[in-house]
Amino acid sequence: MNQPLSLLPIPLLDWYRDNARDLPWRREPTPYRVLVSEIMLQQTRVAAVLDYFARFMEVFPTVRDLADAPEDQLMKLWQGLGYYSRARNLQKAARQIITDWGGKFPTEYKDLRALAGVGEYTAAALASIAFGRPVPAVDGNLLRVSARIMGDSTDVTTAKGKKHFTEALREIIPLEEPGRFNQAMMDLGATVCLPNGAPLCRVCPAADFCCAHLEGRTEEIPVRPAKKARRVEDRVVWFFFNGGRVAIRRRPDKGLLAGLWEYPNEPDGDEPPAAWGLQPGGTEFAGTGVHIFTHVEWHMTARKCYLQEDRLPEGWVWADKASLRDRYAVPSAFAPFRTLVEEELV
Ligand code: ADE
Repeated sequence: MNQPLSLLPIPLLDWYRDNARDLPWRREPTPYRVLVSEIMLQQTRVAAVLDYFARFMEVFPTVRDLADAPEDQLMKLWQGLGYYSRARNLQKAARQIITDWGGKFPTEYKDLRALAGVGEYTAAALASIAFGRPVPAVDGNLLRVSARIMGDSTDVTTAKGKKHFTEALREIIPLEEPGRFNQAMMDLGATVCLPNGAPLCRVCPAADFCCAHLEGRTEEIPVRPAKKARRVEDRVVWFFFNGGRVAIRRRPDKGLLAGLWEYPNEPDGDEPPAAWGLQPGGTEFAGTGVHIFTHVEWHMTARKCYLQEDRLPEGWVWADKASLRDRYAVPSAFAPFRTLVEEELV
Protein backbone atom coordinates (compact mmCIF):
# COMPACT_ATOMS: atom_id res chain seq x y z
CA MET A 1 0.00 0.00 0.00
CA ASN A 2 1.38 3.37 -0.98
CA GLN A 3 1.19 5.36 2.24
CA PRO A 4 0.61 8.94 1.02
CA LEU A 5 -1.99 7.90 -1.55
CA SER A 6 -4.00 6.02 1.09
CA LEU A 7 -4.36 9.32 3.00
CA LEU A 8 -6.08 10.96 0.05
CA PRO A 9 -9.76 9.85 -0.09
CA ILE A 10 -11.11 11.56 3.03
CA PRO A 11 -9.61 15.05 2.55
CA LEU A 12 -10.28 14.83 -1.20
CA LEU A 13 -13.97 14.07 -0.77
CA ASP A 14 -14.26 16.81 1.87
CA TRP A 15 -12.67 19.24 -0.54
CA TYR A 16 -15.01 18.10 -3.33
CA ARG A 17 -18.07 18.80 -1.21
CA ASP A 18 -17.18 22.50 -1.32
CA ASN A 19 -15.37 22.74 -4.63
CA ALA A 20 -17.08 20.44 -7.13
CA ARG A 21 -17.69 22.09 -10.46
CA ASP A 22 -21.39 22.37 -11.19
CA LEU A 23 -21.68 20.49 -14.49
CA PRO A 24 -24.89 19.49 -16.29
CA TRP A 25 -24.11 15.77 -16.47
CA ARG A 26 -23.44 15.75 -12.73
CA ARG A 27 -26.82 17.22 -11.86
CA GLU A 28 -28.56 14.24 -13.41
CA PRO A 29 -26.03 11.43 -13.91
CA THR A 30 -28.14 8.98 -15.93
CA PRO A 31 -26.05 6.39 -17.80
CA TYR A 32 -26.91 7.99 -21.15
CA ARG A 33 -25.94 11.49 -20.05
CA VAL A 34 -22.73 10.22 -18.48
CA LEU A 35 -21.85 8.29 -21.65
CA VAL A 36 -22.44 11.27 -23.94
CA SER A 37 -20.55 13.67 -21.68
CA GLU A 38 -17.58 11.34 -21.23
CA ILE A 39 -17.27 10.77 -24.97
CA MET A 40 -17.46 14.53 -25.62
CA LEU A 41 -14.88 15.18 -22.89
CA GLN A 42 -12.30 12.87 -24.45
CA GLN A 43 -9.53 15.21 -25.67
CA THR A 44 -11.83 18.20 -25.17
CA ARG A 45 -12.05 20.78 -22.39
CA VAL A 46 -15.16 21.09 -20.21
CA ALA A 47 -15.80 24.68 -21.35
CA ALA A 48 -15.87 23.62 -25.00
CA VAL A 49 -18.27 20.75 -24.30
CA LEU A 50 -21.01 22.55 -22.34
CA ASP A 51 -23.02 23.98 -25.26
CA TYR A 52 -22.60 20.87 -27.38
CA PHE A 53 -23.84 18.70 -24.53
CA ALA A 54 -26.94 20.85 -24.00
CA ARG A 55 -27.84 20.84 -27.70
CA PHE A 56 -27.18 17.12 -28.02
CA MET A 57 -29.54 16.34 -25.15
CA GLU A 58 -32.22 18.54 -26.70
CA VAL A 59 -31.99 16.86 -30.09
CA PHE A 60 -31.33 13.30 -28.88
CA PRO A 61 -32.81 13.07 -25.39
CA THR A 62 -32.62 9.26 -25.16
CA VAL A 63 -30.30 6.49 -26.27
CA ARG A 64 -32.99 5.39 -28.72
CA ASP A 65 -33.15 8.84 -30.35
CA LEU A 66 -29.39 8.68 -30.85
CA ALA A 67 -29.53 5.14 -32.26
CA ASP A 68 -32.16 6.25 -34.80
CA ALA A 69 -30.45 9.54 -35.81
CA PRO A 70 -29.57 10.21 -39.45
CA GLU A 71 -25.78 10.39 -39.79
CA ASP A 72 -25.82 13.87 -41.37
CA GLN A 73 -27.77 15.31 -38.46
CA LEU A 74 -25.42 13.70 -35.96
CA MET A 75 -22.30 15.02 -37.72
CA LYS A 76 -23.83 18.48 -38.04
CA LEU A 77 -24.45 18.52 -34.29
CA TRP A 78 -20.84 17.49 -33.67
CA GLN A 79 -19.42 20.08 -36.09
CA GLY A 80 -16.59 22.01 -34.43
CA LEU A 81 -16.05 19.57 -31.57
CA GLY A 82 -13.39 17.59 -33.46
CA TYR A 83 -12.37 13.91 -33.37
CA TYR A 84 -15.43 13.05 -35.39
CA SER A 85 -15.09 9.28 -35.15
CA ARG A 86 -16.27 9.75 -31.57
CA ALA A 87 -19.71 10.71 -32.87
CA ARG A 88 -19.98 7.68 -35.13
CA ASN A 89 -18.81 5.34 -32.38
CA LEU A 90 -21.23 6.92 -29.93
CA GLN A 91 -24.06 6.11 -32.28
CA LYS A 92 -22.74 2.56 -32.70
CA ALA A 93 -22.67 2.21 -28.93
CA ALA A 94 -26.27 3.46 -28.74
CA ARG A 95 -27.27 0.85 -31.31
CA GLN A 96 -25.46 -1.87 -29.36
CA ILE A 97 -27.37 -0.85 -26.23
CA ILE A 98 -30.67 -1.09 -28.12
CA THR A 99 -29.88 -4.34 -29.94
CA ASP A 100 -27.79 -6.27 -27.43
CA TRP A 101 -29.19 -4.94 -24.17
CA GLY A 102 -32.83 -4.20 -25.01
CA GLY A 103 -32.28 -0.45 -24.58
CA LYS A 104 -31.05 -0.71 -21.00
CA PHE A 105 -27.38 0.04 -20.28
CA PRO A 106 -25.18 -2.80 -19.08
CA THR A 107 -23.92 -2.09 -15.56
CA GLU A 108 -20.61 -3.97 -15.41
CA TYR A 109 -17.24 -2.57 -16.43
CA LYS A 110 -16.44 -5.39 -18.87
CA ASP A 111 -19.75 -5.01 -20.72
CA LEU A 112 -19.40 -1.22 -20.90
CA ARG A 113 -15.85 -1.64 -22.19
CA ALA A 114 -17.26 -3.68 -25.12
CA LEU A 115 -19.32 -0.72 -26.40
CA ALA A 116 -17.98 1.07 -29.49
CA GLY A 117 -15.61 3.91 -28.64
CA VAL A 118 -15.57 3.04 -24.93
CA GLY A 119 -12.00 2.48 -23.77
CA GLU A 120 -10.69 1.69 -20.30
CA TYR A 121 -11.08 5.26 -19.08
CA THR A 122 -14.62 5.78 -20.34
CA ALA A 123 -15.81 2.36 -19.16
CA ALA A 124 -14.44 3.12 -15.70
CA ALA A 125 -16.02 6.59 -15.64
CA LEU A 126 -19.40 5.12 -16.59
CA ALA A 127 -19.14 2.15 -14.23
CA SER A 128 -18.22 4.37 -11.29
CA ILE A 129 -20.34 7.47 -11.91
CA ALA A 130 -23.50 5.82 -13.27
CA PHE A 131 -23.35 2.43 -11.52
CA GLY A 132 -21.26 2.89 -8.38
CA ARG A 133 -18.59 0.34 -9.35
CA PRO A 134 -15.23 0.95 -7.61
CA VAL A 135 -12.96 1.35 -10.65
CA PRO A 136 -10.57 4.29 -11.05
CA ALA A 137 -11.18 6.33 -14.23
CA VAL A 138 -7.56 7.03 -15.05
CA ASP A 139 -7.11 10.03 -17.31
CA GLY A 140 -4.28 12.58 -17.37
CA ASN A 141 -5.64 14.25 -14.25
CA LEU A 142 -5.67 11.09 -12.15
CA LEU A 143 -2.21 10.15 -13.38
CA ARG A 144 -0.78 13.56 -12.50
CA VAL A 145 -2.40 13.75 -9.07
CA SER A 146 -1.41 10.24 -8.05
CA ALA A 147 2.13 10.45 -9.44
CA ARG A 148 2.71 13.67 -7.50
CA ILE A 149 1.22 12.44 -4.24
CA MET A 150 3.25 9.22 -4.48
CA GLY A 151 6.35 11.16 -5.58
CA ASP A 152 6.66 8.52 -8.27
CA SER A 153 8.79 9.15 -11.39
CA THR A 154 7.36 6.29 -13.45
CA ASP A 155 6.65 7.49 -17.01
CA VAL A 156 2.87 8.07 -17.07
CA THR A 157 2.63 7.85 -20.87
CA THR A 158 3.45 4.14 -21.21
CA ALA A 159 0.97 1.29 -20.80
CA LYS A 160 3.13 -0.03 -17.97
CA GLY A 161 3.11 3.32 -16.15
CA LYS A 162 -0.62 3.67 -16.54
CA LYS A 163 -1.15 0.19 -15.16
CA HIS A 164 1.11 0.96 -12.21
CA PHE A 165 -0.89 4.04 -11.17
CA THR A 166 -4.21 2.34 -11.92
CA GLU A 167 -3.28 -0.46 -9.49
CA ALA A 168 -2.34 2.05 -6.80
CA LEU A 169 -5.64 3.87 -7.25
CA ARG A 170 -7.63 0.64 -7.26
CA GLU A 171 -6.39 -0.04 -3.75
CA ILE A 172 -7.60 3.26 -2.33
CA ILE A 173 -10.78 4.10 -4.27
CA PRO A 174 -13.65 4.26 -1.75
CA LEU A 175 -16.23 1.48 -2.22
CA GLU A 176 -19.14 3.72 -1.19
CA GLU A 177 -18.68 6.59 -3.62
CA PRO A 178 -16.26 5.76 -6.40
CA GLY A 179 -17.96 8.09 -8.88
CA ARG A 180 -17.48 11.05 -6.56
CA PHE A 181 -13.89 10.05 -5.93
CA ASN A 182 -13.09 9.89 -9.65
CA GLN A 183 -14.76 13.20 -10.36
CA ALA A 184 -13.11 14.82 -7.35
CA MET A 185 -9.74 13.69 -8.74
CA MET A 186 -10.64 15.14 -12.15
CA ASP A 187 -11.57 18.46 -10.56
CA LEU A 188 -8.49 18.54 -8.36
CA GLY A 189 -6.38 17.89 -11.45
CA ALA A 190 -8.21 20.46 -13.56
CA THR A 191 -8.33 23.28 -11.00
CA VAL A 192 -5.55 22.78 -8.40
CA CYS A 193 -2.97 20.15 -9.31
CA LEU A 194 -2.31 21.90 -12.61
CA PRO A 195 0.01 20.55 -15.28
CA ASN A 196 3.00 22.54 -16.60
CA GLY A 197 4.05 25.28 -14.26
CA ALA A 198 2.62 26.12 -10.92
CA PRO A 199 0.12 23.83 -9.22
CA LEU A 200 -1.88 25.65 -6.51
CA CYS A 201 -0.48 23.64 -3.60
CA ARG A 202 -1.56 26.25 -1.04
CA VAL A 203 -5.21 25.29 -1.57
CA CYS A 204 -4.67 21.57 -2.15
CA PRO A 205 -6.27 19.10 0.28
CA ALA A 206 -3.32 16.75 -0.27
CA ALA A 207 -0.54 19.28 0.41
CA ASP A 208 0.32 17.80 3.85
CA PHE A 209 1.22 14.39 2.47
CA CYS A 210 1.98 14.99 -1.23
CA CYS A 211 5.56 13.78 -1.82
CA ALA A 212 6.15 15.91 -4.92
CA HIS A 213 5.03 19.03 -3.03
CA LEU A 214 6.99 18.21 0.14
CA GLU A 215 10.12 17.47 -1.87
CA GLY A 216 9.75 20.42 -4.30
CA ARG A 217 9.42 18.11 -7.30
CA THR A 218 6.08 19.18 -8.81
CA GLU A 219 7.95 20.46 -11.87
CA GLU A 220 9.45 17.03 -12.56
CA ILE A 221 6.43 14.86 -11.81
CA PRO A 222 4.54 13.51 -13.69
CA VAL A 223 7.28 12.25 -15.98
CA ARG A 224 6.27 12.46 -19.66
CA PRO A 225 8.88 12.14 -22.39
CA ALA A 226 8.71 14.89 -25.02
CA LYS A 227 6.19 14.30 -27.78
CA LYS A 228 7.21 13.79 -31.39
CA ALA A 229 6.91 16.91 -33.53
CA ARG A 230 3.82 17.15 -35.74
CA ARG A 231 4.10 16.66 -39.48
CA VAL A 232 3.43 19.83 -41.49
CA GLU A 233 1.25 19.50 -44.58
CA ASP A 234 0.84 22.32 -47.09
CA ARG A 235 -2.64 22.52 -48.62
CA VAL A 236 -3.99 24.78 -51.35
CA VAL A 237 -7.70 25.18 -50.58
CA TRP A 238 -9.97 26.03 -53.48
CA PHE A 239 -13.04 28.23 -53.28
CA PHE A 240 -15.12 27.90 -56.41
CA PHE A 241 -18.07 30.27 -56.49
CA ASN A 242 -21.09 30.29 -58.77
CA GLY A 243 -24.23 32.36 -58.32
CA GLY A 244 -23.79 32.89 -54.58
CA ARG A 245 -22.87 29.27 -53.88
CA VAL A 246 -19.59 27.54 -53.08
CA ALA A 247 -18.38 24.09 -54.13
CA ILE A 248 -17.76 21.46 -51.42
CA ARG A 249 -17.04 17.77 -51.46
CA ARG A 250 -17.33 14.92 -49.00
CA ARG A 251 -14.10 13.55 -47.53
CA PRO A 252 -13.41 9.80 -47.74
CA ASP A 253 -15.03 7.49 -45.20
CA LYS A 254 -11.68 6.66 -43.63
CA GLY A 255 -8.92 8.77 -42.11
CA LEU A 256 -8.69 12.35 -40.91
CA LEU A 257 -12.09 14.14 -40.79
CA ALA A 258 -13.72 11.10 -42.38
CA GLY A 259 -17.05 11.74 -44.07
CA LEU A 260 -17.12 15.47 -43.33
CA TRP A 261 -17.51 18.15 -46.01
CA GLU A 262 -14.62 20.29 -47.17
CA TYR A 263 -13.52 22.87 -49.68
CA PRO A 264 -11.55 20.97 -52.32
CA ASN A 265 -7.85 21.06 -51.53
CA GLU A 266 -4.58 19.76 -52.87
CA PRO A 267 -0.95 19.78 -51.73
CA ASP A 268 0.03 22.56 -54.17
CA GLY A 269 -0.74 24.38 -57.44
CA ASP A 270 -1.85 27.81 -58.65
CA GLU A 271 -4.41 26.31 -61.00
CA PRO A 272 -7.00 23.66 -60.17
CA PRO A 273 -5.90 20.14 -61.19
CA ALA A 274 -6.86 19.30 -64.78
CA ALA A 275 -8.62 16.16 -63.55
CA TRP A 276 -11.36 18.32 -61.99
CA GLY A 277 -12.30 19.60 -65.46
CA LEU A 278 -13.07 23.10 -64.16
CA GLN A 279 -12.25 26.20 -66.19
CA PRO A 280 -12.14 29.32 -64.09
CA GLY A 281 -11.44 32.56 -65.95
CA GLY A 282 -8.72 33.41 -63.44
CA THR A 283 -7.77 32.43 -59.92
CA GLU A 284 -6.77 34.65 -57.07
CA PHE A 285 -4.87 34.30 -53.77
CA ALA A 286 -7.43 34.68 -50.98
CA GLY A 287 -5.56 34.33 -47.69
CA THR A 288 -3.83 31.79 -45.48
CA GLY A 289 -4.74 29.73 -42.44
CA VAL A 290 -3.23 27.17 -40.07
CA HIS A 291 -5.02 24.33 -38.34
CA ILE A 292 -3.39 22.09 -35.79
CA PHE A 293 -4.55 18.49 -35.42
CA THR A 294 -3.05 15.96 -33.02
CA HIS A 295 -0.46 14.54 -35.41
CA VAL A 296 -0.43 16.97 -38.32
CA GLU A 297 -0.57 20.71 -39.02
CA TRP A 298 -2.27 22.03 -42.10
CA HIS A 299 -0.67 25.16 -43.50
CA MET A 300 -3.30 26.35 -45.92
CA THR A 301 -3.30 28.83 -48.79
CA ALA A 302 -6.72 29.81 -50.09
CA ARG A 303 -7.36 30.49 -53.77
CA LYS A 304 -10.69 31.64 -55.09
CA CYS A 305 -12.30 31.83 -58.49
CA TYR A 306 -15.67 32.13 -60.17
CA LEU A 307 -17.10 29.48 -62.47
CA GLN A 308 -19.43 30.33 -65.33
CA GLU A 309 -20.70 26.78 -65.63
CA ASP A 310 -22.20 24.97 -62.69
CA ARG A 311 -21.01 21.49 -63.61
CA LEU A 312 -18.90 19.95 -60.82
CA PRO A 313 -16.82 16.80 -60.48
CA GLU A 314 -18.61 13.66 -59.32
CA GLY A 315 -19.62 13.81 -55.68
CA TRP A 316 -19.15 17.56 -55.24
CA VAL A 317 -22.12 19.81 -54.46
CA TRP A 318 -22.96 23.49 -54.51
CA ALA A 319 -23.71 24.78 -51.02
CA ASP A 320 -25.57 27.99 -50.30
CA LYS A 321 -25.66 29.88 -47.01
CA ALA A 322 -28.58 27.92 -45.57
CA SER A 323 -27.21 24.48 -46.40
CA LEU A 324 -23.78 25.35 -45.00
CA ARG A 325 -25.47 26.45 -41.82
CA ASP A 326 -28.02 23.66 -41.42
CA ARG A 327 -26.96 20.65 -43.42
CA TYR A 328 -23.30 20.13 -44.24
CA ALA A 329 -20.79 19.52 -41.45
CA VAL A 330 -17.62 21.43 -42.36
CA PRO A 331 -14.83 21.00 -39.76
CA SER A 332 -13.23 23.93 -37.89
CA ALA A 333 -10.01 23.42 -39.87
CA PHE A 334 -11.64 25.66 -42.49
CA ALA A 335 -12.76 28.31 -40.01
CA PRO A 336 -10.00 30.75 -41.11
CA PHE A 337 -11.91 31.10 -44.39
CA ARG A 338 -15.38 31.61 -42.95
CA THR A 339 -15.49 35.32 -43.81
CA LEU A 340 -14.11 34.73 -47.26
CA VAL A 341 -16.98 32.33 -47.96
CA GLU A 342 -19.71 34.32 -46.24
CA GLU A 343 -18.92 37.40 -48.28
CA GLU A 344 -19.70 35.51 -51.47
CA LEU A 345 -22.84 33.67 -50.44
CA VAL A 346 -26.37 34.97 -50.67
N1 ADE B 1 -13.52 15.17 -17.75
C1 ADE B 1 -13.90 13.96 -18.15
N2 ADE B 1 -14.94 13.51 -17.45
C2 ADE B 1 -15.27 14.49 -16.58
C3 ADE B 1 -16.25 14.62 -15.60
N3 ADE B 1 -17.14 13.67 -15.37
N4 ADE B 1 -16.25 15.75 -14.88
C4 ADE B 1 -15.33 16.70 -15.14
N5 ADE B 1 -14.39 16.64 -16.04
C5 ADE B 1 -14.34 15.54 -16.77
